[in-house]
Amino acid sequence: MNGNEVKISIGLEGIYIAETKVCKIDGIAGKLWYRGYPIESLAADSSFEEVAYLLLYGSLPKKTELDSFAEQLKKERDISDNIKMIIKSLAQKSHPMDVLRTAVSALSSEDPELTDNSPEANLRKAVRLTAKMTTIVAAIGRMRAGKDYIKPDNSLGHAENFMYMLSGSKPNKEVAKFIDLMLVLHAEHGTNASTFSTMVTGSTLADLYAAITSGICALKGPLHGGADEAALKMMRTIGDPANTEKYIEDALAGKQKIMGFGHRVYKTYDPRAKILRSWFTDIGSKSSGEVKTLTETALRAEKMMIERLGASHGIWPNIDFFSGPLYIWAGVPAELFTPIFAAARVTGWSAHMLEYWPNNKIFRPLDHYTGQLDLKYININDRK
Ligand code: ACO
Repeated sequence: MNGNEVKISIGLEGIYIAETKVCKIDGIAGKLWYRGYPIESLAADSSFEEVAYLLLYGSLPKKTELDSFAEQLKKERDISDNIKMIIKSLAQKSHPMDVLRTAVSALSSEDPELTDNSPEANLRKAVRLTAKMTTIVAAIGRMRAGKDYIKPDNSLGHAENFMYMLSGSKPNKEVAKFIDLMLVLHAEHGTNASTFSTMVTGSTLADLYAAITSGICALKGPLHGGADEAALKMMRTIGDPANTEKYIEDALAGKQKIMGFGHRVYKTYDPRAKILRSWFTDIGSKSSGEVKTLTETALRAEKMMIERLGASHGIWPNIDFFSGPLYIWAGVPAELFTPIFAAARVTGWSAHMLEYWPNNKIFRPLDHYTGQLDLKYININDRK
């Protein structure tokens, strides 16, 4: 490298931007820890409320702490008529992720602590956002289907209440556990694109609502959180499971990406996808109709992709591959997959902001200019 050359990392690949105690990913071993706890144990033994506390406060809660945190979430669940009106005006014409980002942005107008950037106020805002985003997603689902808002039921836990507000009836235990699992698995994942977007916005000392709105915007894309909806769309396009291999063959030959596969950090099986896979095979084997068909398609696609690109290219299933058929089994429409992801990830986004702000430094990377310099300005009438 001489004086004129710079080292450019396209997509910031391999660049560390901060120290953190929130999350560790070992992409080679396929391991993930939230605040030191392996994802497998949190998925098996914890709940979304407990994981949210762990991420936001830094340690697992004692029983009284968890009870009080769950109460705070319940107190903050309901949304105002103004937010309902915003959702209603957009729900049937915009994608739920677009409605969600608008509603979350609008929530800022109702938070009396919006401009208080103290750690205590930011923690309270994070709790409000965590409580209300799930309600907003359920309201979007209802209003999109032309139905009325259902008020939260404070006798229910976070995941159970979400399904109640979405469907109008209390989910069975298996569905409630699955939604809770999805919230746990989606709660945090290091400095991915949406967390980085959150941090970039937050680093300007914009408020938490602005930062979280940025996170939602970045999560929407099919290369990131939007891959869950895109993977299901692909499985539905394949239709008959017998078409799977030809579809994938053609897609790879056309240099298309297969949604739900590959990851910047994991070069092996995503541990979250592994956890979901066991649910997936269990539910798939007991299901009929569309879920059965989707299960067969997904398993054929997984086999072929691993044979073709697994060990050789480090492209394995990620968390977004198996979730679609499971959500369909649970009664969640495809356009709500990514909004649910956001309603869980708000905890990780907030945890990173809370950690970063005390030693805040604005993000301001460089780009390497390769254009011309000192061009002569030509009057508009003289330009050829
Ligand atoms: N299907 C087919 N080929 C793929 C896939 C895939 N899903 N993913 C990567 N590749 C190939 C690329 O075409 C590229 O090949 P090349 O070197 O011959 O050009 C190579 O693998 C490297 O891929 P990049 O896109 O450069 O890798 P990057 O680290 O930048 O991207 C990403 C990671 C965005 C996740 C990518 O794997 C992808 O687009 N996957 C599909 C979308 C997806 O599932 N996203 C969700 C990720 S998990 C999450 O964000 C919640």
